[in-house]
Amino acid sequence: MLENNIEKVLILDFGSQYAQLIARRVRENNVYSEIVAHTVTTEQIKKLNPKGIILSGGPASVYSKNAPRCDEEIVKLGIPILGICYGMQLGCMMLGAKVIATTTREYGRTLCIISGENRFLESLPQEITVWMSHGDIVAELPAEFESLAHTQSCPYAIVKHKEMNFYGVQFHPEVTHTPNGYQMIRNFLYKICNCSGNWKMDSFIEKSVNDITKQVGDGRVVCGLSGGVDSAVTAALINKAIGNHLSCIFVDNGLLRNFEAEEVIKTFEENFSIDLHVVSAQERFLGKLKGVFDPEKKRKIIGHEFIEIFKYEAQKLSNVKFLAQGTLYPDVIESIPAHGGPTVTIKSHHNVGGLPEELGFELVEPLRLLFKDEVRQIGEELGLPKELVGRHPFPGPGLAIRIIGEITEQRLEVLRNADKIVIEEIRKAGLYDKIAQCFAVLLPLSTVGVMGDERSYENVIAVRAVETTDFMTADWYRIPGEILGNISHRIINEVKGVNRVVYDISTKPPSTIEWE
Ligand code: XMP
Repeated sequence: MLENNIEKVLILDFGSQYAQLIARRVRENNVYSEIVAHTVTTEQIKKLNPKGIILSGGPASVYSKNAPRCDEEIVKLGIPILGICYGMQLGCMMLGAKVIATTTREYGRTLCIISGENRFLESLPQEITVWMSHGDIVAELPAEFESLAHTQSCPYAIVKHKEMNFYGVQFHPEVTHTPNGYQMIRNFLYKICNCSGNWKMDSFIEKSVNDITKQVGDGRVVCGLSGGVDSAVTAALINKAIGNHLSCIFVDNGLLRNFEAEEVIKTFEENFSIDLHVVSAQERFLGKLKGVFDPEKKRKIIGHEFIEIFKYEAQKLSNVKFLAQGTLYPDVIESIPAHGGPTVTIKSHHNVGGLPEELGFELVEPLRLLFKDEVRQIGEELGLPKELVGRHPFPGPGLAIRIIGEITEQRLEVLRNADKIVIEEIRKAGLYDKIAQCFAVLLPLSTVGVMGDERSYENVIAVRAVETTDFMTADWYRIPGEILGNISHRIINEVKGVNRVVYDISTKPPSTIEWE
């Protein structure tokens, strides 16, 4: 939590798939936001002193037995409240309205007619398109409420309590399918909560530098660089605070993309005076992975080796008391039980690259309150190259989980060359920043082809590109056919050992983003 002089808006989470999106929308408006469990007490809220509260949506029905509720006092504190979908129904019910299940579920884009006037609705046209997703509705409102808008099957699409500073919207203003939603959230923050907008990245850097200096004193911090955005920004921020009291360890596990290791080393050597230790451990990793086919086994081996190497290297440094980690806010939220992390292990992501407590270091996690887009902004302000800062996420086990089946030097070479072409073509087409993640996968099969007059029997490369904001759900990206054609043509012609390219058109769920 940030201290009290930074304005904040709290999001009470009732199990919404959009809670993080709401938090990000608020921050995009320069207001700091945090997600808290709906079980937060009134006392805790008072201590946090928020400028406003947003009650999130959620899958439950307010009348069902185990429906999540918050302390009723919270709604009556006088702090401005915006209830979204379930949050609206719950808030309205607590303030005397009647909620019922409808026979016509509203789902998807819906026309909403605004009939009232209010600062919450400033700069909005009279008819707006909104994204609905609900079974229940507020059916009866007591006289203390005012209705501000309706849709064909929802009499109260936007409501306001006349005295309590409570606003409710039946739809989801946080999603892009509600084009005026951003303005509505902005109105709530600036016109209703009277926020001034003091959440800015440059002041975050200043504050963070102070905090780090205070936390570490003259102790030494060690940080593992992975080549990804989060560890790079963590290192740059800590470097700004304590200079060469920071030591970085970069383990080249041989599972990185083309020239990735060289780029990381160059970036840090050229831009920062960091004490950088590069460990070339390609052979060690490939040796351990020999004959391993199972993805989870690959992950465990890579995670284990990384920890062993890191431990060994860190022990060689003197006076290390702190370990820097690039933990981001979504990881923090997901690890809180009230927010229900995944119940079954689909893939053991967070075990890979994570360092165990037994190392005995105190953690320094300067990014733990930030979302990825904020981390990118900070990276740019700190002078990291745009290309590094905007890079797609790359999994800790690297290319090992993009080579289906056994990992060999030769197969790594094929995949690296294919992946390089995919990224080059995507960049050339100006699509790189529109796609959340894009890469090549090497399949464990050979297919027949003809090259010249000869029969070939060679590898298949799959191309995967997805759009997503949270990586929990994802849609396949519609790369135009012509660009896919260029990718396929170049891979087959330039990468020795490949005679077929396929495009992955699966969504997550039920598929995952990585193939292993
Ligand atoms: P999936 O494949 O589960 O991936 O849909 C979601 C996101 O997580 C990344 N990913 C990993 N990251 N270690 C990591 O650090 C892993 O073992 C791992 N597996 C998947 C994946 O690249 C995507 O961004």
